[in-house]
Amino acid sequence: MQTHDTVSDMQTLARGARAGGRTIAFVPTMGALHEGHLNLIRLAATKGDVVVVSIFVNPIQFGPNEDFDHYPRDLDGDLAKCREAGAHHAFLPARATLFPDDYSTYVTEEAVAEPLEAVSRPTFFRGVTTVVAKLFNIVQPHVAIFGQKDAQQLAVVRKMVADLHFPVEIIAGETTRDADGLALSSRNAYLTPGQREAALGINRALEQIKSMVALGERRAERLVAETTHLLSDDRRLRVIYVAVVNPATMHKQTDVEPGNSLLTLAVWLDQTRLIDNALL
Ligand code: PAF
Repeated sequence: MQTHDTVSDMQTLARGARAGGRTIAFVPTMGALHEGHLNLIRLAATKGDVVVVSIFVNPIQFGPNEDFDHYPRDLDGDLAKCREAGAHHAFLPARATLFPDDYSTYVTEEAVAEPLEAVSRPTFFRGVTTVVAKLFNIVQPHVAIFGQKDAQQLAVVRKMVADLHFPVEIIAGETTRDADGLALSSRNAYLTPGQREAALGINRALEQIKSMVALGERRAERLVAETTHLLSDDRRLRVIYVAVVNPATMHKQTDVEPGNSLLTLAVWLDQTRLIDNALL
C-alpha cells in the first residue's frame, strides 16, 4: 500500500488509474479505524480496482466545544489495518493542505442537513460536505462508501452528489456491531466498561422497536415514545432525539412505510455522544 500526502500526488494517481480504465473505490475516514471501517474498505475492494482510503480528522466538522483535540488518533495502527483490509492507497493530507489559514470556500446542503444531528451540531454537515467535496475532487473516485451508521451523513452526501452532479456512485455499508450488539464507533474508545454496558441499551431498544414493527405497529409516535422509554430505563442514557424518518430526506414520518423508514437516535452517555439507527 502506498501513502500520499499531497493533492497533486493523489490527483496524478487518480488520473493515471482512470486513463488505464481502472475503477477507483474510495472510503473517506477520520482514522481510529475499527472493524466497521475495515468492512467498508473490504466492500470498496469488491467495487473497484483501486481502493483509496483517506485518513483526515476534519477540523471543520467539529464544533467549538466538541472533541477535535481528543479525537482518537493512531496512524500507524490505521495504516496496518488499511493494508490488511485491502486498500491500495492511503491519502493522509495535513490540515494545512486541505484547510490553509486563508481557506474560505464551503459547501452546504440545506434540506437533509437541517434536522436531527444538525440541531445540536449546527456546523457539522457543512464541515462534512465541504471536506467530502474536496476529497472527491482530489481522489476522483467512481464509487465512494459511507457507513449506514451515520445515516444522516449518508443522506446528506447523496443529496450533495445529486445536486452538484458529482460523477460518483455512493454506496452504503451496513453498520458493523460487536457480538453484544453495540454499533462500532471510534468514539466507543471513550467508554468505560460500565458505560459500555449502558450503551448496550441502545441496540436493545432498536431491536425491540423492530419487533414491534414486525408485529404490525406502524405509528411513528408510538415507536418514538417506546424507544425513548426503553432508553430512559438507564439513567446514564440521555436522549437527544429519537425520530422515524424517510432515510433519503430525513423528513419525519407519521407512519412507518415498511422498507422506507428509519428509526434514528442520538443519546448522551455521560460525556460521550452516541448515534445509532435501524431501517424499519
Ligand atoms: O464519517 C466520517 O468519518 C467523516 O464524517 C468523514 C465522512 C470522513 C468526513 O470527514
